Parts: sequence; C-alpha cells; structure tokens
Amino acid sequence: MMNILAPSILSADFTILGEQIKETEAAGAQYLHFDVMDGLFVPSISFGLPVLKSIRKASNQVYDVHLMIEEPIRYIEQFAEAGADIITFHVEAASDPREVIDKIHSLGKKAGLAIKPKTPVEAVKSYIEHIDMLLVMTVEPGFGGQKYIDECTDKIREARDLIKEKGLSVDVEIDGGVTMNNINVPLKAGANVIVAGSAVFNGDIQENVRSLMAEFEIV
Ligand code: DX5
Ligand code: ZN
Repeated sequence: MMNILAPSILSADFTILGEQIKETEAAGAQYLHFDVMDGLFVPSISFGLPVLKSIRKASNQVYDVHLMIEEPIRYIEQFAEAGADIITFHVEAASDPREVIDKIHSLGKKAGLAIKPKTPVEAVKSYIEHIDMLLVMTVEPGFGGQKYIDECTDKIREARDLIKEKGLSVDVEIDGGVTMNNINVPLKAGANVIVAGSAVFNGDIQENVRSLMAEFEIV
C-alpha cells in the first residue's frame, strides 16, 4: 500500500493558511488533514464548513476531513459539499455508524472510521468491510502537539492484521504525536496514512514534509 502524508492544518499559521497549504503540496504531501471539533465530543472547538469551502481551492490534495463531532450524520452532506474527499468520523460519536458510512458513500466520498486511544479495534470489526480507512488515534483527540501514546502501536498492528486477514485493502491512518524521531514506529506497525500537525507546521514546512516522507522509503 502507498504511504501517504496528511499534514494537519490545526498547527498552521491561519494568517497565511493558503500559502502554507500550497507549501505542503509543493513538497509532496498527498493529503490535507482537516480537524473539525465541536466542543462536545472533544473539549475544544476548531473550524468548520466555511473554512473548508474557502481553502478547498488552495490545493489539489485529497482533503481528509476528521470529524470529532457528536452524531456526525447531521453534517455529512454539508462536508461533502464543502469539498471533503474522505470523511472520517468517530465510532464513539455515532449512534448508527453504518448509516453514516452509507451516507458518505452515497455522496461519492470515501468513508473513514476513527477510534480513540482507549477504544479497542474490536469496536470497528463489524464495519471494516464497509470502510475505506480506519483511523487509529495515537493521542486523545482534541489538541495538536501532544505526545504519541506508545500503547496505541499494538492497536495499529491489530488493525492491519484484521484487514489482511479479511483480504481487504483498507487504509490505516494514525493521528497524533508523530515526529521525525518516531514516524517509523506506526509505519512498521502497519499504518500507511500518517497525519502530522506540529511536525509539519513548526519550522520550515517544505523541509519538514520532505524529511518526514523520506522515512517512507527507509521503513
Ligand atoms: C488531534 C487532531 C490531530 C492533530 C495532530 O485531535 O486530530 O490531527 O492536529 O497534531 P500533532 O501532529 O501535532 O500531534
Ligand atoms: Zn485529526
């Protein structure tokens, strides 16, 4: 499976957001990760539909929307319209995850299902055939710049094994605490879509993207 870098704009400089997105694209990052927080599912509030709509034209990357919101079914149509290519929601936040997956697919978008660090892989087992991507959170969702939780590495392995066992080609994405020093850990465990916020946007963006992606070849 192809390894993909998904810079999370949560750590970007919003006064020059469009330029920074273009830099991640110029350096080769294939996805752009967009974190939506509602202040209920997670304690923080980030940004939403008007921002997505506005930045959609900044690049030709795959827009990877991570919904950290309660009952995501309420907003799937609007995020699809605003320019999301992949819509990922949390299994813990949806009363009927299958309904949400089907809704995303009916709009021609890819569906991702996310689990928080304390949620077992078991919780998504019955949906795995129906999704395009499984997001294993490697920090508690809500904030950028946290430390990678080592206990989550086993879950990445477990997720990849489950997908292989079933002969599926579901992407395994990880999100939170990735740095130059530890990116090889989730990659080795079977993740192929790597979200990185502070590791991309703190310092020289293009250099950061290139160095993180250079690790794709080494692992
Ligand atoms: C956290 C978000 C992440 C965040 C990652 O809830 O889902 O996407 O931006 O930030 P870093 O890479 O700094 O841990
Ligand atoms: Zn995220």
